[in-house]
Amino acid sequence: MALSFDNRVAVVTGAGGGLGRLYALELARRGARLVVNDLGGATDGTGSGEGPAQRTATEINHSGGEAVADTNSVATKEGGVAITETALEAFGRVDIVINNAGILRDRTFHKLEDEQLHPVLAVHLRGAFNVARPAFVRMREQGYGRIVCATSNAGLLGNFGQSNYSAAKMGLVGLTNTLALEGARYNIKANCIAPVATTRMTEAIFGEEIKEAMNPELVTPVVCFLAHEDCPVSGEVYSAAGGTVARYFVGRTPGYYNPNLTAEDVAENFDRIRDETGYRVLAEANHEISVAYKTIRAAGG
Ligand code: NAI
Repeated sequence: MALSFDNRVAVVTGAGGGLGRLYALELARRGARLVVNDLGGATDGTGSGEGPAQRTATEINHSGGEAVADTNSVATKEGGVAITETALEAFGRVDIVINNAGILRDRTFHKLEDEQLHPVLAVHLRGAFNVARPAFVRMREQGYGRIVCATSNAGLLGNFGQSNYSAAKMGLVGLTNTLALEGARYNIKANCIAPVATTRMTEAIFGEEIKEAMNPELVTPVVCFLAHEDCPVSGEVYSAAGGTVARYFVGRTPGYYNPNLTAEDVAENFDRIRDETGYRVLAEANHEISVAYKTIRAAGG
């Protein structure tokens, strides 16, 4: 059955170009009313301009959809509040937030300076807090919400030269995990998308063949599903790369138990501790405590 977004209001940050623009166009095509947010700067976060947000909003409005442009920066608390205000003023509610805005300031760790670190954390990580926090309050009141945060394989797996970006992107996974728990009672679901796509952010990094394979249009279906009412999951991470879709998760190995554990024990049993056979995917922090406690009890400890 077709996934409709009729009567839904979506905020997509960084929707002036790249992936965000495609998310916004597709959500609008499926009936959502859109706040197209974009600061309109360069990939490194310098500069700003009204053009990109306005262009995407115009594109939506010209093709029969409903969109307003918003050029606030996600990097400030005031910007985040203003973005939700834009949605409320234009459409009276906010159902969906796609935290997609992003910048890059790559530098190997030993050379990393504050000017590469802080803006990257501000846009990706604090930006998600700035935008999601006022929207979450509304979502809680109305008993409905969908939040999608753009994480990255650079955070999930690491990427040379991107310690700032990796940390911010993995921070979003932590934020999403807890939003999923705190939102559950209010039908608010939060998930992460880990895209791989040819955009201005990646075109200089990808080789020709990869560039061709990683069509950004093929990330949108996954984001649409995660943003839809029918999305069955919360607190999860999905990879979308050139039409491949997969799930990332954190697993806990069965591990090893010794009530008189020593460092030597850890050393001797390290292969067993690391062995991934029989791993479990736990849904929240308390589950890990109960798994460990049950292991201790079962062994008579
Ligand atoms: P992009 O550079 O085309 O889009 C990012 C957009 O965010 C730009 O339009 C930019 O103006 C906007 N933006 C930057 N700072 C902002 C701020 N403070 N406030 C509002 N808007 C701001 O890049 P792309 O590839 O479309 O990236 C979208 C998201 O996906 C980013 O979060 C990126 O980190 C993430 N991502 C992309 C991957 C890829 O392969 N393209 C891989 C993994 C993650």
